[in-house]
Amino acid sequence: MQRVEATLQRILPAPEITPQRLHQAMRYAVLGGGKRVRPLLAFAAGELAHADPGRLEIAAAAVELIHAYSLVHDDLPCMDDDVLRRGKPTCHVEFDEATALLAGDALQSLAFQLLGEYRVADDMQTQLEMVKLLAAASGSRGMAGGQQIDLESVGKALSVPELEFMHIHKTGALIRAAALMGARCGNGLNDKEQGQVDLFAKLIGLAFQVVDDVLDAESATATLGKTAGKDAKDNKPTYVSAMGVSRAREFVQELRQQALDALAAFEERALRLRQLADFIVLRKF
Ligand code: IPE
Ligand code: IPE
Ligand code: MG
Ligand code: MG
Ligand code: MG
Repeated sequence: MQRVEATLQRILPAPEITPQRLHQAMRYAVLGGGKRVRPLLAFAAGELAHADPGRLEIAAAAVELIHAYSLVHDDLPCMDDDVLRRGKPTCHVEFDEATALLAGDALQSLAFQLLGEYRVADDMQTQLEMVKLLAAASGSRGMAGGQQIDLESVGKALSVPELEFMHIHKTGALIRAAALMGARCGNGLNDKEQGQVDLFAKLIGLAFQVVDDVLDAESATATLGKTAGKDAKDNKPTYVSAMGVSRAREFVQELRQQALDALAAFEERALRLRQLADFIVLRKF
């Protein structure tokens, strides 16, 4: 993923540009850490669609900027109130709350600026659809909406369908957008094949957050790079609180299998997507 790191380095405003503190906070939130799962998904789906890597690096960077913004805001005292992220103090701890808020805002704007500035699709109609896709995935019917449900659910025991709804919005929507954005950078997939990639991403996106719930309950802070045991401490409903760790782990395996099944028609062409599914399920942080 050196390509994605280099792109992010390049497109983020330099730390010496005014207002320096804001640009430093933006760079702090994005660079030097993170698994880059969403960019990897964009590249893997893009490879299937024969997309140009130059386009993919922009689409992947746009999704990662939205993700980084969501983490900065997720960690704020008014949300999860976390002090550790990617093994470092959270953005608002390192800088201050107002700067972290603005850094998140500016990262979100920068994501859409990239999609306005660079050519990422064969035709302008597809490019506009990609803008709409990312906006919808991060907005009130996507990630931000899922985060609202998360906040409203503190102290409540959600049913499994309610948990699924929350997870596919707060986390799944952006993961799904990452895969679809990658696919749309190229023209090698027909509608049915794009649907298969979408179904894969939907299933693996849900699995991603269930694994996050399990790791929060099971892992150590040093391994995670974020404070462990935080969901239980904050009374957040999760797949672990709803069904216990071992059932949640089984559920992840079921989702993985369904996700892999969705890729069956691609045969060996989907190797990188399959590898990512395994990484998401087996990861330790
Ligand atoms: C953490 O996402 C927040 C969730 C949506 C679960 P990641 O686990 O992808 O975080 P980084 O980017 O690797 O730090
Ligand atoms: C966050 O979910 C999902 C986002 C949209 C950022 P969590 O609150 O569980 O993510 P972590 O555990 O803090 O990374
Ligand atoms: Mg949260
Ligand atoms: Mg959180
Ligand atoms: Mg979590």
